[in-house]
Amino acid sequence: LKRKKISVIGAGFTGATTAFLLAQKELGDVVLVDIPQAEGPTKGKALDMLEASPVQGFDTNIIGTSSYEDTKDSDLVIITAGVARKPGMSRDDLVQTNQKVMKAVTAEIVKSSPNCHIIVLTNPADAMTYTVFKESGFPKNRVIGQSGVLDTARFRTFVAQELNLSVKDITGFVLGGHGDDMVPLVRYSYAGGIPLETLIPQDRLDAIVERTRKGGGEIVSLLGNGSAYYAPAASLVEMAEAILKDQRRILPAIAYLEGEYGHEGLYLGVPTILGKGGIEKVIELELTEDEKAALQKSVDSVRSVMSVLS
Ligand code: APR
Repeated sequence: LKRKKISVIGAGFTGATTAFLLAQKELGDVVLVDIPQAEGPTKGKALDMLEASPVQGFDTNIIGTSSYEDTKDSDLVIITAGVARKPGMSRDDLVQTNQKVMKAVTAEIVKSSPNCHIIVLTNPADAMTYTVFKESGFPKNRVIGQSGVLDTARFRTFVAQELNLSVKDITGFVLGGHGDDMVPLVRYSYAGGIPLETLIPQDRLDAIVERTRKGGGEIVSLLGNGSAYYAPAASLVEMAEAILKDQRRILPAIAYLEGEYGHEGLYLGVPTILGKGGIEKVIELELTEDEKAALQKSVDSVRSVMSVLS
């Protein structure tokens, strides 16, 4: 029996953190990939992580490389490569720059691992997942974007703080694009099975929802130079584990819609079942009129980002 092989493209803050968490959980051997100009640091980070293995007790190999030969026959490839938005950079510039990166890395991934699953983190995540899907020619179930696990993790963190309860007992639910127009569904969110609406006053819940929506921006302004990476990496690893261990978990993911929720031809955050087939199912729920309108707004903003794609 062979160990699973996981390649992480982009060895920056998020990619390196993801690689370390994957190794610690022994989900498979990890290949960390970056551009040739960054080969030294990429190899250095991988070796540094590997040297933690005797201390932490994980039997996982980790290598750093700029050659896709080393990623050959990966079971799962996680894309964190790209640039974060810098001062003076328009949103459209970011989309076009990262689209080029997605096209370049996807071509290499398809050549070296034609049967892999791909999880995309790079922002804007909905449009970048769509780009990877189109470029790869893979079936929709094998190209998956990350957003909802992170968004609900932020929501759950704030709820746990509000109620002074364990994060383990808090569940959250979010629909829509990964941006300020995401749609957190409070009526599907619980603490130990008790609806949050019965535990937290409406004005406090509204404040938590608003903080969740702006959660990425809150970290960006605190860091001053760069964007969140610990919670994004942890979210990627939870999705990776669900797929690699065929857990069939219900997790929110960016999935290709073909009519679900009344939308088609785009990648959007929805509840899914993640297992060995990747996105094995998109779970559809009845939405209220207000929720439908909020989702439409989120779809409109994803489509406006997609309109910049070439
Ligand atoms: N191939 C491989 N790696 C690349 C490529 C490429 N074509 N282009 C850029 N990279 C690498 C960079 O060299 C860098 O090491 O991607 C890495 C990005 O790392 P960081 O700049 O540290 O960015 P990070 O904070 O990890 O965020 C990465 O995730 O959350 C999103 O918005 C964020 O899109 C951004 C991405």
